[in-house]
Amino acid sequence: MAGSALALVETFMQVTGRTFKPVNRDIQLATMTNPTMNSNTKDLSLPFTAAELEMVTQKYPTPFHVYDEKSMLDNLDRFLSAFSWNEGFREFFAVKALPNPYIMKLLAGKGTGADCSSIAELLLAERSGTRGEMIMFTSNNTPDYEYKKALELGAIINLDDISHIEYLEQVGGHLPTTISFRYNPGPLKEGNAIIGVPEEAKYGFTREQLFAGYQAAQKKGVKTFGLHTMVASNELNYEYFIETAEMLFRLVGELSSELGIKFDFVNLGGGIGIPYRPEQSPIDINALSSGIRLMYDKLIVAEGLAPLKIFMECGRYITGPYGYLVSRVLHKKQIYKNYVGLDSCMADLMRPGMYGAYHHISVPGKEHLPADQTYDVTGSLCENNDKFAVDRHLPLLQAGDLVVIHDTGAHGHSMGFNYNGKLRHAELLRRTDGSYKLIRRSETMDDLFATLNFTELEGFK
Ligand SMILES: Cc1ncc(COP(=O)(O)O)c(C=O)c1O
Repeated sequence: MAGSALALVETFMQVTGRTFKPVNRDIQLATMTNPTMNSNTKDLSLPFTAAELEMVTQKYPTPFHVYDEKSMLDNLDRFLSAFSWNEGFREFFAVKALPNPYIMKLLAGKGTGADCSSIAELLLAERSGTRGEMIMFTSNNTPDYEYKKALELGAIINLDDISHIEYLEQVGGHLPTTISFRYNPGPLKEGNAIIGVPEEAKYGFTREQLFAGYQAAQKKGVKTFGLHTMVASNELNYEYFIETAEMLFRLVGELSSELGIKFDFVNLGGGIGIPYRPEQSPIDINALSSGIRLMYDKLIVAEGLAPLKIFMECGRYITGPYGYLVSRVLHKKQIYKNYVGLDSCMADLMRPGMYGAYHHISVPGKEHLPADQTYDVTGSLCENNDKFAVDRHLPLLQAGDLVVIHDTGAHGHSMGFNYNGKLRHAELLRRTDGSYKLIRRSETMDDLFATLNFTELEGFK
């Protein structure tokens, strides 16, 4: 099977909602390789030294997430330039990955739009200065007030279901002039990681529904059409994205000739993976883009369907590797295994506990020591899966040591929750000049209890 098994597992989990708990996460999958990856392996360097971090923690106590502006924006420049051959290419940053308006504003400064899936994300886009067709609204099971807000902002609306054509028309009084539909390719017969799994997923239109849907929208006065899909998650094999593009380009050809409509854009979704594990390599974004270009020339230009804008809505690839969860060792414990307990927990980073996902851990100031200890690195939730790592080889740790968990820049802070009354912690930005800015403070107990009325409780029997 081509491709990274870890990515396949995550694809499977995303589209099915099933969870996956490897028995021993740090050993499992360690030897998997992907022939289409770059030869360079993951960059394990940190943007800060131990001394710099110690200084920062005097002002901003641990735990916190910190994002590195320079490397994030440099990566975005490389990403955008890889697709510069396509006039109209746009990245709509998947707000769910890192819903912080400071980050969104920085990314928007480079020309990215915002991919929003809820009213909260629409409001964040608005507050960070993004409006109109720079917003793509891809929701599902959508309430009317969310469509109202998307319409008010002039967002491109990407419908998840054929019944929502009429629903949106009722909500807005008429359909917007531009509309996009999300395609779920379902059980296509070749069967691979992309097309073998969507059948289980709740998202999108079937192929037949697309034909009926565009026809209905056309009759209702829609003038500009888009086609969207999202069939991969954390995928490190660039060929999957070329296959996705091929699938959508072919469909654009069929829909255009059968219905006589002209497509303005295709949105290939997000899902470009990042190397979480040291032995994994970053995806070759230029090879990914060149492969899509070949398909574009063959299926769009040669068929007289150009120009067609290509949109993407990556989150993880844009911000994931540039975020770090900085924590301190609170306690050590020895029973049947060796544990180090941090001052952060699953409320700060859910991926390891929820998916069995690997996040690399560095111990600043102890880089020169041998990683000759084996620890489970835990939080303090009353849940045994509240572990950042299982059987991880690390240097000898002591209470008070700083620990840095890598790749928390996407689906990290944003997936946090308040179980056990745990608070979600601060987010900092390491600016290009090396200064630090607090871009979200830590929650307080007052925040946590803000929805409770304790005054009424006093007289309550
Ligand atoms: C519709 C949609 N678009 C984009 C994304 C972003 O995915 P990623 O951060 O893996 O690129 C997601 C992730 O859940 C998604 O559901």
